[in-house]
Amino acid sequence: RKARVLIDRDFAIGHTDPRLFGAFVEHLGRCVYGGLYEPGHPTADESGFRKDVLALVKELGPTLIRYPGGNFVSGYNWEDGVGPLETRPARLDLAWFSTEPNSFGTNEFMDWCRAADVAPMMAVNLGTRGGDAARNLVEYCNHPGGTAWSELRRTHGWDKPHDIKLWCLGNEVDGPWQMEHKSAADYGALAREAAKMMRWIDPTIELAACGSSGRNMPTFGQWEDTVLEHTFDHVDYISLHTYLNNYKQDTASFLASPDLMDSFIDEVVAIADAVAAKRRSSKRLMLSFDEWNVWYRTRRNRADRVKEGWPVAPPILEEIYTMEDALAFGGACISLLNHADRVRVACLAQLVNVIAPIMTETGGGAWRQTTFFPFAHMTRFGRGKVLRAQAESETYDSHYYDPRGTQEQFFPVPNVPYLKIAAVAAEDGGLSLFLLNRDLRQEMEVSVEARSFGRLTVSERLELRHDDLKATNTKTAPTKVKPAPLQDVSFDGGRLQTTLKPASWNVIHLS
Ligand code: AHR
Repeated sequence: RKARVLIDRDFAIGHTDPRLFGAFVEHLGRCVYGGLYEPGHPTADESGFRKDVLALVKELGPTLIRYPGGNFVSGYNWEDGVGPLETRPARLDLAWFSTEPNSFGTNEFMDWCRAADVAPMMAVNLGTRGGDAARNLVEYCNHPGGTAWSELRRTHGWDKPHDIKLWCLGNEVDGPWQMEHKSAADYGALAREAAKMMRWIDPTIELAACGSSGRNMPTFGQWEDTVLEHTFDHVDYISLHTYLNNYKQDTASFLASPDLMDSFIDEVVAIADAVAAKRRSSKRLMLSFDEWNVWYRTRRNRADRVKEGWPVAPPILEEIYTMEDALAFGGACISLLNHADRVRVACLAQLVNVIAPIMTETGGGAWRQTTFFPFAHMTRFGRGKVLRAQAESETYDSHYYDPRGTQEQFFPVPNVPYLKIAAVAAEDGGLSLFLLNRDLRQEMEVSVEARSFGRLTVSERLELRHDDLKATNTKTAPTKVKPAPLQDVSFDGGRLQTTLKPASWNVIHLS
């Protein structure tokens, strides 16, 4: 196959916000306990943070971490997770049918963010709690002192405010699985009132309202419209969540599925702008894609989601990612980059052990899953001005299966280009290209005309592929899938030529 691409340094979509490269840590399974926090582990520091995990997090390069949930936050009492360890209560977590020991909470999370050099995105409980608990948390975290909640933080040992800038107003409140799931109107009113109080305490914070927990939700569209009618003047972002799947073992359709993330983003932008239009408002709401990933193997089977007996940190949602998952995942990275004008925040869900790029053995080692690599490439090479890549590539039609509960649902995905591409005029003055060849059998000769770039040379060329699309990285074979140099790349007279292997993720950086 052949593909032609035209880019020009002056034809831009938008700049990538650093927070586009975020991830997510939930009190779920072994994400916190046995993942990033494990006192007594041979690599643990004095705070109990695993240094082997911290090293991998730094290599992965997330910029922002959403916390503490997820479904968990909808039943979370944040007060349980602060103060002397011996006074913290163990609680039943009804999201994941586990026992939450509360030995890791808000302050430990903030210390971990400092150790990992990432910014926090804090979610408040708008399930079982409401505006009062949310505003108290803002006061506890961000108010300097002299009030009950801010002084409590200081007596707990954190003298300076945490100064958390980005906040989520609840989580997936549209989902019947959520503790105290609500209608759009009820949630919209609650989120608006919580937002007002949170911002009265700290006017510098930014707020994200809950959008739909998936494009396949029956309420998608109406939900956003109603929620934004209530919250438009009080929030900065509306959220989106997507988990890609290959339930049907139809790899071509699976690799087409990130294109539905493009549609989802375009549709949410349209709804947000329609709400603005009805108000004659020039405000443009931004999008927070604060949960995205591939997740299906450990999703529908209850045994993979719940262990009997209310255990602490059970091994649940420990999805083992394949080579083909990394390809779909790379397609999602490209979708996010190509919407840098409106998607300002995005969080890979999640970070460690739970549907994660980093796996650990409790008491043992840590390793990189296949999906680690496209994310690390995106955050390393994706910063700058995303360009409009005018691509000509042959296409195929697919039908993506995205079930709603037990209901069979297929979504047509027509005209899927075999080449999915993002181009970024990088901050170092160079050019980064992200290229996914979705053809499972054929190589692709790609020619990119890069206008107005001047003299550049190829400084990085990376290819991620494996003859076995089901290949995985495991404790015993942790580097089976890893990037290798992309062999065939040349750049001359403003034209880049390369040949992409079938079913491959490729990154080229010119500087
Ligand atoms: O990331 C796993 C779960 O997926 C989150 O808790 C929830 O928000 C979503 O349904």
